[in-house]
Amino acid sequence: MKFLTKSFLLICLIVLSACSSKATQQDVSETMSSIDSTIIDMHTLSNYKSVSSSHIHLDIEVDFTKKIVSGSVTHEILNPNNENHFILDSKNLFIEYIEYDNGETASFAYGKVDELLGTPLIIDIDSDVKSVTIHYNTTDKTEALDWLMPEQTDGKVSPFMYTQGQSIFTRSWIPIQDTPGLRITYSANVKVPEGMLAVMSASNPVERNESNSYNFNMPQPIPCYLIALAVGDLVFAPIDERTGVYAEKTMLEDCAYELEDMGQMVTAAEELYGDYQWDRYDVIVLPPSFPFGGMENPRLTFATPTIIAGDKSLTALIAHELAHSWSGNLVTNATWDDFWLNEGFTVYFERRIMESLYGKDYVEMLALLGYQDLQGSIIALKPDLQLLKLKLNGLHPDEGMSDIAYEKGYFFLRLIEETVGRDKFDVFLKDYFNNHKFQTIVTEYFVQYLNDNLLVPNDIVLNVEQWVYEPGLPNNCPSIVCERFNDVDKGLVSFHKSSDVNLIHASNWSTHEWLHFIRKLNPETTSEQMKLIDDKFKLTQSGNSEILAAWFEQSIRFNYRGIDAALEKFLTRIGRRKFLEPLYTALAATPEGKERAISIYEKARGNYHYVSFNTIDKVLGLNI
Ligand code: BES
Ligand code: ZN
Repeated sequence: MKFLTKSFLLICLIVLSACSSKATQQDVSETMSSIDSTIIDMHTLSNYKSVSSSHIHLDIEVDFTKKIVSGSVTHEILNPNNENHFILDSKNLFIEYIEYDNGETASFAYGKVDELLGTPLIIDIDSDVKSVTIHYNTTDKTEALDWLMPEQTDGKVSPFMYTQGQSIFTRSWIPIQDTPGLRITYSANVKVPEGMLAVMSASNPVERNESNSYNFNMPQPIPCYLIALAVGDLVFAPIDERTGVYAEKTMLEDCAYELEDMGQMVTAAEELYGDYQWDRYDVIVLPPSFPFGGMENPRLTFATPTIIAGDKSLTALIAHELAHSWSGNLVTNATWDDFWLNEGFTVYFERRIMESLYGKDYVEMLALLGYQDLQGSIIALKPDLQLLKLKLNGLHPDEGMSDIAYEKGYFFLRLIEETVGRDKFDVFLKDYFNNHKFQTIVTEYFVQYLNDNLLVPNDIVLNVEQWVYEPGLPNNCPSIVCERFNDVDKGLVSFHKSSDVNLIHASNWSTHEWLHFIRKLNPETTSEQMKLIDDKFKLTQSGNSEILAAWFEQSIRFNYRGIDAALEKFLTRIGRRKFLEPLYTALAATPEGKERAISIYEKARGNYHYVSFNTIDKVLGLNI
């Protein structure tokens, strides 16, 4: 079956390549629809290919006492072949009853439970049914939601709740066809407790109202992993006419300062690859348990407070989430196997935005740090996870969230840019976004489109297949020359020879120079040398989360115990998985460290979102 699908896809591509040169809109949609019929998303149990939702309306209440979201979701249905069942994804939800649009009660059944993917919800329909309304509530096993007590917020007065949909968590808070291969519009009415504000990846209120009930609308079709909600003691500050920031009152001023350049970022992005398609661009800075750096929920990026460093040095993350407004949200990976089409393009675009604002030498620091991450991942990952086109069948899509999609994807696109020249590549990318807006893409199609529209017309031969379908890093990977790290390298050499901290001339170093320094410390560094560095540069007291995380990791490795109290504080307060995973892993490398890790984790686990504690449970080998 799998073989047949693959051969069919191959035949489609061969036929299409024989009759294609530069793409017109019509070619594009014909090619897409022939490939579309061969795409299988292994991570949905729904029948979205035959019967699909086109719009959902949520009518829900957020109950902080019971820690549940309850209410209903109405699905408008497209059923061109008059199928008898409408099948949705669901996971750990309580379904109360279901109604048809004529008010009659619908009959439904559950399919076989899948540990990873959840339970298919099979609703009987006939050709007269235009919509169904499902009355349901979430449970304490709902993976998408994080319920925070007041102590876990900055203001310490109100509770907080936010959702995380990507990759397959939306099904745990809304019964839905949970695949990136389907786009829907949505609207919502959300009731919240007195005095709290709700915001979504949609049109948003800028202040509280008396009714404690908020209406939302997302008129552009999106994949459902981008449906998002946050509720808390939130306030808003504008940055310019179309950008702004939501945060708790206690943090708002710092956030608005840190994100001051956001308006310029949107303008720079538009100059590169075409108009911003989502009306407003706002950011919400969440409490520290948020498991990611950022999440590109349309119109409203969700961000970790760990980017608020006081010196704007970590704002590449905002450029990244903004770039997803084109790569990811406008042109979307059709399955999680094609995740690099979202992330690799976004890292490339992020660095182009940063280059427009802050120059090439700044971006080369980001690129070199990215290259170091990539090399680490290639050593650590099994060959199957080193592919751009992934094979995640049977695995959680989050397993594909590695530097391969991000950095190997970036270096592949950078190679193409350097080979064809930036001008041609920019025209190509702008057309790519424009020709495929509000559509979903698979890797095989992109490779074909790239050949037809860029490589063949310019007589360029590149090892595209090797980059996309083979493990490892091809040896034509662009190499990065980063002048600004030369000083750092000199400091490292002198310090290691002499242990004299005065030979480290760091007065002008930015966050990125420090990260390079910390990462490149000689593997033989002693705890005494770590103490000398710390005494002089006070890294353990740094207010910069990236520097802290890198410093803690090396300190654990070199057994420097001056960090202990600060490390425990960091691990109990912050829930960003990218920081937690390496730190717990480093601790767990020795029996004594593992004991310490478990004792910290006992206190900290309750402060983490499911995404993070699920990962750390595995790191520490706990079966909770
Ligand atoms: N979309 C991702 C976050 C994500 C990926 C969530 C896969 C769930 C599954 C987001 O755009 C992202 O890449 N965030 C990065 C930051 C970025 C600067 C590399 C992160 O959170 O670290
Ligand atoms: Zn991303």
